[in-house]
Amino acid sequence: MVKQMTRCLVVLCTISAIGYYSSEGSSVGLDATPRITVAYNEISDLRRFSSRVSNYSTLLLEDERGILYVGARGAIFSLNSSNISQRYQKAIPWEVTAQKHEECMKKGKNNQTECFNHIRLLLRFNETHLYACGTYAFSPLCTYIDSRTFVLSSETEEGKEKCPYDPAKGYISILVDGGLYTASRYEFRNLPDIRRNLFQRSLKTEESNLHWLNDAEFVSAALVPESMNVEVGDDDKIYYFFNEKVVEESSSFLGSKTASIARVCKSDLGGKKILQRKWTSFLKARLVCYMPFYEVLQSAYTLELGTWDTTIFYGAFVSQWKNMEASAICRYSISDIQKVFEGPYMEYQYSSRKWSRYEGEVPSPRPGSCITNEFRSNGFNTSQDLPNNVLDFVKLHPLMYEKVRPIEEQPLLMKRNIIYTRIAVDRVKALDNVYYDVLFLGTDDGWLHKAVVIGSAVHIIEEMQVYKFPQPIEKLVISKKQNTLYIGAQSGVLQIPLFGCSQYISCYDCILARNPYCAWDGHVCRDIIGAKNRYINDWTQMTQDMQNGNGGCLNSTDDGPLKKKVRTVIKGNDVLLQCDLRSNLARPQWYVNGTNKLYNSEGHTRLGVDGLLITDTLPEHSGEYNCYSEENGLQSLIAAYSLNVLLELPKEKNLSTPTPIIQLPTAASQSSSNIQFIYISTITILGVLCMVLSVVLLYVSCQQKKKGKYAVRNSRSLNVELQTVSSQFKEKAEESNSYSDGCLQIIPGEASTMSPHKDMPPPPPPPPPLPSEFTNGISTLPNMLRKMNGNSYMLLRQNEESSLPSYNSFTEELSKILEKRKHTQLVEKLDESSV
Ligand SMILES: *[C@@H]1O[C@H](CO)[C@@H](O)[C@H](O)[C@H]1NC(C)=O
Ligand SMILES: *[C@@H]1O[C@H](CO)[C@@H](O)[C@H](O)[C@H]1NC(C)=O
Ligand SMILES: *[C@@H]1O[C@H](CO)[C@@H](O)[C@H](O)[C@H]1NC(C)=O
Ligand SMILES: *[C@@H]1O[C@H](CO)[C@@H](O)[C@H](O)[C@H]1NC(C)=O
Ligand SMILES: *[C@@H]1O[C@H](CO)[C@@H](O)[C@H](O)[C@H]1NC(C)=O
Ligand SMILES: *[C@@H]1O[C@H](CO)[C@@H](O)[C@H](O)[C@H]1NC(C)=O
Ligand SMILES: *[C@@H]1O[C@H](CO)[C@@H](O)[C@H](O)[C@H]1NC(C)=O
Ligand SMILES: *[C@@H]1O[C@H](CO)[C@@H](O)[C@H](O)[C@H]1NC(C)=O
Ligand SMILES: *[C@@H]1O[C@H](CO)[C@@H](O)[C@H](O)[C@H]1NC(C)=O
Repeated sequence: MVKQMTRCLVVLCTISAIGYYSSEGSSVGLDATPRITVAYNEISDLRRFSSRVSNYSTLLLEDERGILYVGARGAIFSLNSSNISQRYQKAIPWEVTAQKHEECMKKGKNNQTECFNHIRLLLRFNETHLYACGTYAFSPLCTYIDSRTFVLSSETEEGKEKCPYDPAKGYISILVDGGLYTASRYEFRNLPDIRRNLFQRSLKTEESNLHWLNDAEFVSAALVPESMNVEVGDDDKIYYFFNEKVVEESSSFLGSKTASIARVCKSDLGGKKILQRKWTSFLKARLVCYMPFYEVLQSAYTLELGTWDTTIFYGAFVSQWKNMEASAICRYSISDIQKVFEGPYMEYQYSSRKWSRYEGEVPSPRPGSCITNEFRSNGFNTSQDLPNNVLDFVKLHPLMYEKVRPIEEQPLLMKRNIIYTRIAVDRVKALDNVYYDVLFLGTDDGWLHKAVVIGSAVHIIEEMQVYKFPQPIEKLVISKKQNTLYIGAQSGVLQIPLFGCSQYISCYDCILARNPYCAWDGHVCRDIIGAKNRYINDWTQMTQDMQNGNGGCLNSTDDGPLKKKVRTVIKGNDVLLQCDLRSNLARPQWYVNGTNKLYNSEGHTRLGVDGLLITDTLPEHSGEYNCYSEENGLQSLIAAYSLNVLLELPKEKNLSTPTPIIQLPTAASQSSSNIQFIYISTITILGVLCMVLSVVLLYVSCQQKKKGKYAVRNSRSLNVELQTVSSQFKEKAEESNSYSDGCLQIIPGEASTMSPHKDMPPPPPPPPPLPSEFTNGISTLPNMLRKMNGNSYMLLRQNEESSLPSYNSFTEELSKILEKRKHTQLVEKLDESSV
């Protein structure tokens, strides 16, 4: 009971903590909203590679050779790293035999996913050869590949010491000075282990789940060359990131996992009698991001910056609680980690069955250390010379008392409703001569976030849907030579440019993006690295504002003049003035007649994220409407409209079909003093009609949904529906079926004054020419309606009635926006259930 209460409390705390963090949610900060959302079909310059196999989860980039090796299920590929979709490709098929497949099935393994040869290891072995291992239907094999001819060696080696059986288990492999360091769960017993193989003394971890590795899942590893440039003669170390079962905390954490970091020394040879063929330098510590024991590590990235003592590790964490999707990003410094490994140890007291800080005397030389000059001067030349009491101590005290905490003791980013599966980091020097870390974050549903660390906060530059079908991103590899990012996942390998500057079309866009690779050169937004090469270090003509993201564009004249659009409606109708903001951080700002600023939901106006809706228009609503995008203190003009509200259709134009509004009830014959009554009844009837229409539209859209979310409705079927609805006006509808319905007229067209007669609807009885603006207003109606669906209209009505804050999207494929914004904060407001 108490246990559950504590658990509950902690979960509540977590939630409120995240709530607290996200309440600050702005462009920069915890739980940042991605500035731009790029859907799959909008991505430019994406290069793909896939073959008939699946699971492209092992990548080996050899930048100098210009080759990207890819290990997939039953095949290894050699791709040109400058363009992976180029025809030149070599492949090595390496599949399991039918007999092996059979055996694997008999072992009770899944013949659809597991009984194949999943390539898990792909490393450069020597000048001429690669080393590769595959799971080979639950009996791992390893072999050499001649990289000159790209041919598999005929001899294979038993792989069970080096490669996991299970294709889905976490696995790490690095090759250091001929030693193959791997970490995984090995063999059928599935025991976690950190190993060294190949041409050095092989070593393992002690099989003691209480003390050493407890149900560990490995995430990543890194070599830190700590022997370089130090007086003490320290050794190079290999750091491992993993999650394992909590042992040291109270029973309420039983079964939960915790992120951890372990390290071993490169020159470790194991002990002589004690810890024979086992690590003598294995130490581990807990890794904390925002909430110890409630988060697990998904991915870690080591940022090497020339010298080892500036190394920074980035970690992507997710919440362990299934009902709470949240991710966090933290970074750690090597010096903080070193301090923890030099600090006090933890100890398990068998008597009290509790873990606590070890308070006794620590034997000398310090257990778990690498062999340093000091050790050597005391006669301990290798780990085999270490005294028994030291090795006995190591065996029982590999866990450190202190936890490794992030830089500045807090996460860089917290993100709800997102599961990050992979992180990669690039450090770039921007125009202000400051280095910025660019984070590439892969999600579990095939999206990629590109973010930049500014100070101690994260600004998410964009989110991109890189895979059409949701699938976890499994590998991210950065190439500084090609300036590209390679992505590996189930369905294929992708190559995308690191920079992406050309997508910013104006100076404002370029500055607001805060993309450290990009700057405005007076004409276009271009990458500063290419510019540096071209102008020979002359960055003075370029503009960028990483720190504030809003300076430097005041004199820019490149945002060419906008084409003003004309909208004409009949009094009493609704009109939508579209204004699509590309940035999720921008807010629309409308001005009428120059200076008159429009605020939200004043009388007849409704402000939405993608337009301004004016309902029941009156003649005084005519005027000049300008839509500005306001972001980070900058305003830029996005759209300009000239709205004309006509009292009635001009008589002299002799329109064959007067609108129903004018002709509607008998009111037309009444005296002019009753004109108000006419309007009211007109509006009422229109409202009823619109309700009916929207029900029909909803129905139609539901039908449509079955076919696919993004299906575009064809205007023909719409006409049919509309004719059915407007039965009252059937006569007129037949006279001019595309725009006679009262409800239909509520929406203006999209065409510009330049081509008045271009988009005329096909009118059965050719009507006399219409006034030019009027044509524009109505002629593109079917077009407009095609974009608008029943859903959005329903939403609109609801808003009117309940007068909700109207930052809602009411136009243009609401569902598409919902899908796009699923990844942004706005999702809370744009809940589909409100439709
Ligand atoms: C990769 O393609 C580029 C041109 O697209 C070519 O110059 C280069 O030689 C190719 N690399 C290899 C290894 O074939
Ligand atoms: C990459 O190669 C593909 C296939 O040959 C080609 O269609 C594409 O244009 C190339 N892309 C670039 C940027 O060279
Ligand atoms: C896998 O096993 C199922 C039933 O055990 C069988 O129907 C299916 O054909 C097998 N698939 C393959 C690829 O062997
Ligand atoms: C690389 O290793 C392979 C496999 O052990 C060996 O056959 C080959 O001779 C080696 N090449 C060099 C240049 O050492
Ligand atoms: C391999 O890909 C298939 C889908 O193509 C997926 O179901 C399976 O889980 C993947 N296996 C691994 C080990 O990722
Ligand atoms: C350690 O090495 C030194 C010199 O290399 C040697 O004199 C000494 O005997 C060695 N000590 C042991 C315990 O092997
Ligand atoms: C913008 O123009 C003003 C005056 O024309 C000038 O003083 C200022 O230096 C210019 N700013 C930039 C960034 O070019
Ligand atoms: C805009 O100005 C015109 C002409 O001065 C005026 O008729 C109209 O009512 C104004 N529109 C608004 C919305 O104030
Ligand atoms: C004007 O409309 C009337 C009646 O709808 C029609 O008879 C007449 O021909 C029209 N005039 C022109 C110029 O189209």
